[in-house]
Amino acid sequence: MTRPYYIAGNWKMHKTRSEAAELARTLTVKLKDGKHKYLVAPSFTSLETVGAIVKGTNILLGAQNMAAEEQGAHTGEVSVLQLKDLGVQVVILGHSERRHTYKEDDELVNKKVKLALRHGLDVILCIGELLSEREAGLAEKVCETQTRKGLEGVPVSDLARVTLAYEPVWAIGTGKTATPEDADAIHAYVRGVIERLYGASAAEKMIIQYGGSVKAENAAQLMAKENIDGALVGGASLKADTFVPIAMFG
Ligand code: PGA
Repeated sequence: MTRPYYIAGNWKMHKTRSEAAELARTLTVKLKDGKHKYLVAPSFTSLETVGAIVKGTNILLGAQNMAAEEQGAHTGEVSVLQLKDLGVQVVILGHSERRHTYKEDDELVNKKVKLALRHGLDVILCIGELLSEREAGLAEKVCETQTRKGLEGVPVSDLARVTLAYEPVWAIGTGKTATPEDADAIHAYVRGVIERLYGASAAEKMIIQYGGSVKAENAAQLMAKENIDGALVGGASLKADTFVPIAMFG
């Protein structure tokens, strides 16, 4: 089967509202005839502004994180209800910066995944090993654990609303990209994990994005691999000039 390509831009903690609006406006024009699935994930502060711009276009609105609780005394957190109120359609969960800088563990990520799905949001669940784990030969094991634990309790009926993003931590923001062969090998392995958990048909349909220093120069080679179904782009998503060629590849 041919899976649709899904290209997402994670703007991380960049851009004021006016800067975010300018980029979003440009993308709506330049990606208008794009044939892939698109998403932009601005900071919480720009979600409403960007949401108004991408509404009704072929670009989905994503958030970069979400609280694990529906509401309550959680100073500094943002809830699923608040995201939905802003028109957010997708939430990125378990990003390596959340896991490693802010110490989110698999249990917390899993709680967020289930909460998001229960409220009708789609999820991009990020997985990926540290350099030390890769060097110790643990890349597959780490990705398997993060996938299994991240999806624990998620029924097969919700799986179509989950995208996986394989982002080797050593490749994020470093300019070092995994080779297409290395990335594809992990994607194939993770697809096998999904098959063991949910069956062959669900595994076949699962969209697995690659992330980690994706740029126009390497996007097409990565996407050409059988198990790479899109990209989660950080640095190169911050400018239309660098994101559009990735989004319009092929
Ligand atoms: P990068 O970030 O493209 O800047 O490496 C990717 C990500 O963190 O999603």
